[in-house]
Amino acid sequence: MSQISVSAGQPQTGRVKDVEEVRRHYDAGWRAYLDVAEAALKEEGPNLARILGHCLATRSSGERKQRGRFRPRIGGEPLSDRVPHACHLAYYTSVLVETIRNRLPEGTGRIVEMGSGWGAVITSLWLSGAPRNAEYWALEYTDAGRRLSSLFASMEPAYKLESRAFDYHQPDFSEITGTAKTVVFSTYSIEQITYIKDELIERILAIPGFARCIHVEPVGWQVDPGAPLARFDRFAKKLGLPPLDQAAASRRRCWRKRKNRNLLETLRRFEAAGRIVIEEIDTDLVANDPLNPGTLVVWRPA
Ligand SMILES: C[S@@+](CC[C@H](N)C(=O)[O-])C[C@H]1O[C@@H](n2cnc3c(N)ncnc32)[C@H](O)[C@@H]1O
Repeated sequence: MSQISVSAGQPQTGRVKDVEEVRRHYDAGWRAYLDVAEAALKEEGPNLARILGHCLATRSSGERKQRGRFRPRIGGEPLSDRVPHACHLAYYTSVLVETIRNRLPEGTGRIVEMGSGWGAVITSLWLSGAPRNAEYWALEYTDAGRRLSSLFASMEPAYKLESRAFDYHQPDFSEITGTAKTVVFSTYSIEQITYIKDELIERILAIPGFARCIHVEPVGWQVDPGAPLARFDRFAKKLGLPPLDQAAASRRRCWRKRKNRNLLETLRRFEAAGRIVIEEIDTDLVANDPLNPGTLVVWRPA
């Protein structure tokens, strides 16, 4: 098949995330949930919903993310302090899961998560009614994340999940074979890759049966970087002034933390080359951290 070439990407500026530090950070985080799951399994036996529930409860027992005057927003609305943090996290997770589930095309037979962490999203997706008999693939960087995802799957024979090592810097989907209609998704994992390579998109397009890709990633500030307010805030920052609004504060934080800077720019170049169609962008749809709102981006092969 001849491929239309994609123009070169924007120049990469500034420092990028330290990959080993990222791995250590998440491996330690997911190991803590693995301990919770293993202890609960010993106590209660293999009940997937209960064991996942124990891990989610542990996550909810942490501190609410507070960023000065800014509150987390879901669908543009600030969340109230009058309901417990656990409810916010349940709402946040439910928006992620339903957003993906509602966009699975008829006949989806394979669901692949990139950067799947401890498996909470993909497992919640299966539990909440995504196709029971589809293949589920949890592709993750850390050993602890993969082990916990596999442990969840071991508790429910109908949940057919494969967990594999995956690195966005060397994306490899070659173990995924067969032509099942395939949806690929990511939630808050591309954020860890300061600059993705075009190779990632090429490799996703080459997955047999690939039909749609869904991201929820903190890239809202990439949607219209030339907007007057964004330009004005960049100028304000140079003058040492505080961010003008929540979106500006979020852009500054994403930049400072070396979160992804080129997902939308990359997808738009592939679209301009006639290789993909961007079906949907919903800016700052959902957030747990007020300054890390996730934007929905949906695309498919052209
Ligand atoms: C914020 S967590 C999100 C996990 C999961 N997607 C979720 O929403 O619960 C970020 C994930 O990205 C993974 N990650 C970091 N660097 C990666 C890389 N180079 N390749 C693949 N995944 C990576 C981390 O191990 C971690 O599991």
